[in-house]
Amino acid sequence: MKKAILTPDRKKKRLLSQLPHENAEGDIITVFTFDMGDDGEHVNGAVLITEKQILVYVNNAETALFTVAGCEKFEYRQLVGACELTAKDGDGEHIICRASNTYHDVLAKNARRLNGLKETGKYRKDEELELYRVCPKCGRELKGGLKVCVKCADKKSMFARLFKMALPYKWYVIASVILFFAGFGLSLLGPYVNKQLIDGYIQNEAAGAAVSSGDNSVLFGFLFTVLLMLLLYIGSAAINSLRNLAVMQAGTGLIVDLRKLVFDKIQKMSVKTITRRTSGELMRRVTGDTSMIENFVVGQMPNIIQQAILLVAVSVILFIYDPFLAFLILVPVPLCLGLLQFANAYFRTIYARQWEAEARSGSVLYDIFSGIRVVKAYRTEKKEFDRYDKAASEERDIAIKNETVFNVIDPVIMFVLNIGSLFLMYYTGSRILGRTMTLGDAAMFSSYVALIYGPIDWLSYLPRLLTRAVTSVVKVFDIIDEKQDIQDAGDAKEFEIHGDIEVNDLTFGYDEGTDVLKHVNLKIKNGDMVGIVGRSGVGKSTLINLIMRMYDPDGGSVKIDGVDLRDISQQCLRSQIGVVLQETFLFKGTIFDNIAYAKPGCDIETVIAASKAAGAHKFIINLPDGYDTVIGENGHTLSGGERQRISIARALLHDPKILILDEATASLDTETEKNIQDTLQKLTKDRTTIAIAHRLSTLRNAAFLVVLDKGTVAETGTHDELMRKKGIYYDLVMAQRQMSKIKK
Ligand SMILES: Nc1ncnc2c1ncn2[C@@H]1O[C@H](COP(=O)(O)OP(=O)(O)OP(=O)(O)O)[C@@H](O)[C@H]1O
Ligand SMILES: [Mg+2]
Repeated sequence: MKKAILTPDRKKKRLLSQLPHENAEGDIITVFTFDMGDDGEHVNGAVLITEKQILVYVNNAETALFTVAGCEKFEYRQLVGACELTAKDGDGEHIICRASNTYHDVLAKNARRLNGLKETGKYRKDEELELYRVCPKCGRELKGGLKVCVKCADKKSMFARLFKMALPYKWYVIASVILFFAGFGLSLLGPYVNKQLIDGYIQNEAAGAAVSSGDNSVLFGFLFTVLLMLLLYIGSAAINSLRNLAVMQAGTGLIVDLRKLVFDKIQKMSVKTITRRTSGELMRRVTGDTSMIENFVVGQMPNIIQQAILLVAVSVILFIYDPFLAFLILVPVPLCLGLLQFANAYFRTIYARQWEAEARSGSVLYDIFSGIRVVKAYRTEKKEFDRYDKAASEERDIAIKNETVFNVIDPVIMFVLNIGSLFLMYYTGSRILGRTMTLGDAAMFSSYVALIYGPIDWLSYLPRLLTRAVTSVVKVFDIIDEKQDIQDAGDAKEFEIHGDIEVNDLTFGYDEGTDVLKHVNLKIKNGDMVGIVGRSGVGKSTLINLIMRMYDPDGGSVKIDGVDLRDISQQCLRSQIGVVLQETFLFKGTIFDNIAYAKPGCDIETVIAASKAAGAHKFIINLPDGYDTVIGENGHTLSGGERQRISIARALLHDPKILILDEATASLDTETEKNIQDTLQKLTKDRTTIAIAHRLSTLRNAAFLVVLDKGTVAETGTHDELMRKKGIYYDLVMAQRQMSKIKK
């Protein structure tokens, strides 16, 4: 039976034709490829999803079959450098497929789709699944987090806004245009003076005779004309340099404004929105795209206007002078414009792909460099080289296509223009021979022709410039116009936080369809220290992310002092919460700056007091430059425990009402940890503290403990109560005791 493909697409159809699927049950929903075997090796795999089954293929041979009805749940999971789609059934969890991170969207999307299919019996089309975004206007797939494709974006309004941004630099732009016209006037004068030189002196027998008879006035006239020519050259050189200066001033100003705007916007985005894009992409927008725009708006845009005016003005002059000749000269123009139109359409599609390929290879580089230690430890340099090679080759292939078209079109335009010049030469030549035109006239004409053909030839660069600029403009405005999903409400409250925290029926998932936290309820009184424990990956860090409002909950609420987080201004919230995150991050700078991060301008005594409390003072003063030691990239490398103590000092200096410690002391030795625990004990007195720790002994002092299991609160109580209960916490403690006994 021939099956309907519910989400038809040429690529999918082609893929499907290679896969044996005669026995598959149910209509086909989608088919996609993946590139990794269960052990991480490279494979050519494909997954076919029908309304009833999931078929897995490797090298076009079916290797596994799951039924939607037989599975309980589907999950997308992010691994290190890879991701996977799994199915859970009565026997446990099975991997449907694994793939490198580039497949992230596809796998996450299909996990959601399968869960939806399982729950509701209905499949959702790709465009209904958030991560697979298509242009709402033309249906084209959107890559790189765009909301509208480059083709359909409202470019006019974007450019209008861009020019508005250039307004502060209008005087420079105006000066550059005025200077251009001054230069232009001079360049129009050039051919005319040239004609005078030839007709008046060089090709003028009377003048020749006058000079031979010792008539100095003719000689002076001649010298004067040559001098005039020289002045023209000097004038145009001076004007051009002034103009370049004006352009540079406007350009550098605009680019910095634009970068600041994009950067500021990216910083304001929620973590969720940012993680949807790769760092390569974001960096490209802040640096590459903005400079492309600057180059276009300030460097090219005035050029385009000038060249167009030049074209019209010279044509008019030529028509006045000799209409037939002008007609001859302008014959190739429509042909060239036609060619450019064609090139434009082509460049538009190819350049969007080039942008993506460039961003992809940037991301690959970023990924490899940030994981360089792992690469070296596992000797995977060759593998990573191949990965980069693949990305770079892809970039090259697209660039070649792009350049090929350009390199063909450019000579064709040149050829057409040369034919035009040939016409001109034939015409002027025959008129000179017929003595109806002087040599000076002919020279002047060919200079004007160069003035016309110059812009036309230059126009051949235009489609490329234009598509590049348009792509960048769309990408940059895509960021600038991004809706802020975590935003202060209009009446956001600012108040002094006491530290009561209330979590009501909180449900949250990073990806739709896979809830990490489910119906979590929790009440923390101000001043209490609460420990959160649970197995790795259960959602402890996620819970504190929600308390800090890095994300908004999908269901339920988090309240501080009875006010929903969404009604508190982010500034007010964050300035009163101190965190030590699980992954300590230190910026490039001195230790002093890193500790004083949240309180710039505070004095050294305060910093030292905080460092002492965090147990960091001792090791800091032993460093070569003490508190002035530069850490971070290119700086002094600190150990994991040292980094942790610095971030504890940073959090303490902040003197927050709510202190969150996510595995804050995990990399410390027992003695240092004990010392810090003691100080923390004192410090946590007047503030609400939420501490996450795997080493359960560190949470002994907690007012109560919250045990998370399967995304929800499984047990709460003090250490003693939970031990008596002999539940999950008891098991965890026992397992740790067992471990420490083994160690002993
Ligand atoms: N940014 C993210 N996008 C998608 N999934 C995520 C993200 N961050 C975490 N997860 C997933 O959410 C789940 C909970 O993660 P979380 O970091 O909250 O666990 P945890 O309890 O803090 O674990 P650990 O004790 O190992 O730190 C995990 O399955 C994790 O894979
Ligand atoms: Mg965690």
